[in-house]
Amino acid sequence: MPDVPEIHVVVLAAGKGTRIKSSRPKVLHHVAGVPMIAHVLEGARALRPRSVAVVVGHQADAVKSALAGHPGLTFVVQEPQLGTGHALLMAEPALRGAGGTLILLSGDVPLLSPQTLQALVDRHQTRKAAATVVTAIVDAPHGYGRIVRSGEAMARIVEEKDATPEEREIREINSGIYAFDLDGLFDAVRGIASENAQHEYYLPDLVAIYRRLGRGVETMTVANPDEIRGINSRGELAQVSRIVRQQKNDELMASGVTIEDPATTYIDRSVTIAADTVVHPCVSLEGRTTIGAGCEIHSGARVVNSQIGDRVTILNHCVITDATIGSDVSIGPFAHLRKDADVRDRAKVGNFVELKHTVLGGGSKAMHLTYLGDATIGQKVNVGAGTITCNYDGVSKSQTVIGDGAFIGSDSQLVAPVTIGQGAYVGSGTTVRGDVPAGALAVSAGAQRNIEGWVDKKKKKK
Ligand code: UD1
Ligand code: CA
Repeated sequence: MPDVPEIHVVVLAAGKGTRIKSSRPKVLHHVAGVPMIAHVLEGARALRPRSVAVVVGHQADAVKSALAGHPGLTFVVQEPQLGTGHALLMAEPALRGAGGTLILLSGDVPLLSPQTLQALVDRHQTRKAAATVVTAIVDAPHGYGRIVRSGEAMARIVEEKDATPEEREIREINSGIYAFDLDGLFDAVRGIASENAQHEYYLPDLVAIYRRLGRGVETMTVANPDEIRGINSRGELAQVSRIVRQQKNDELMASGVTIEDPATTYIDRSVTIAADTVVHPCVSLEGRTTIGAGCEIHSGARVVNSQIGDRVTILNHCVITDATIGSDVSIGPFAHLRKDADVRDRAKVGNFVELKHTVLGGGSKAMHLTYLGDATIGQKVNVGAGTITCNYDGVSKSQTVIGDGAFIGSDSQLVAPVTIGQGAYVGSGTTVRGDVPAGALAVSAGAQRNIEGWVDKKKKKK
């Protein structure tokens, strides 16, 4: 085995995030459907580190519980929050006995690519530096720490609030992402003082300390400054989200998906779409959603955590969550498919139809103004306009079962639990309170009565 230094990761996420003006911790605000810190942790994982510690403080419990799905994290608490240098120091006990390279990430810098992180590790290790700072050259450096060089070498980092007007002109900025040699790191961090505009212990001050100690400090400048964008405000949150969306849309278009207007199309990173599917403007595809080939998703549709087959048409303004849809299906416009709606191949769901916990069998149709809940509907069933499964009696939910080839007339109520047999008919306007045998016709309305001349009599009374 070659002697590859270990890698450890620390993610800073204890700050209040004052500038985002939120009751929620900043690092939990979503970028492309997941908390921004989840993007950071995904990048960290690509380095296959020995350990990942997250420094939490402000609303620590909220951050911890939001990250419960990420295995193998160590949480360390920073209380009070005295700055980024102080935050790193809090991770010292978690790293006792560890050696090699520490990668320091910021919970509010979510776009860093795994390739850039790996390049940072490689450069830091081959140059045997004590610290390597990831930097970028940007047009608008406002708000970032500036890299002050003497000659070629980085001399120190100065924060915006402590910078002279000349230093503010510097366009090379600190990304807040670093590689450190763990050897001697925490002793040096303890040397950081807080005599500055914010009275905080600034981690970037380590650069000047290492220079004084004669230890090697390096920089790595990223080619694409978008990668190191930090999120401090809602405006920056929107900008970063747009960059992630653009990347996703570009990938999908490169793989054969038509996106008519990428600027108004919102597709989470976790979504997959097969070739020749067309996505119209103003569509949101979220969470663990998969969409097959040759589908057409029209404007205003929102699809969340759902599986959709091939050649499916989703017409305008459908909301589809936690649903499964087969192939050659048509949905909408204005349909609502939710929890465990399961629409099989060649079925059709029309306007103002809601499905919940319901199987709509192959080739079956429910085209207008219908609620189907807790139902198992066979193949080639016709569900007429205005059909309602009365699945809830105020206490518990009950099942409706409809056999293959049945015909449910318009404006029928199916009071569950109830079973309609294969090929049975339910007359229009029937309230079905008991099972209907296969092949039978159920009717419940009384005979029609016409009162001759009624309208004229009414008019005369007035
Ligand atoms: C920091 C850098 C700045 C850099 C910028 C890049 C410092 C002093 N400045 O500034 O040079 O250009 O990032 O985005 O480091 N945090 C804690 N505990 C604290 C303070 C902060 O955990 O006591 C965390 C925050 O939650 C955040 C990260 O550290 O995730 C950065 O803190 P923030 O206050 O956003 O620093 P910036 O002002 O952006
Ligand atoms: Ca920041």
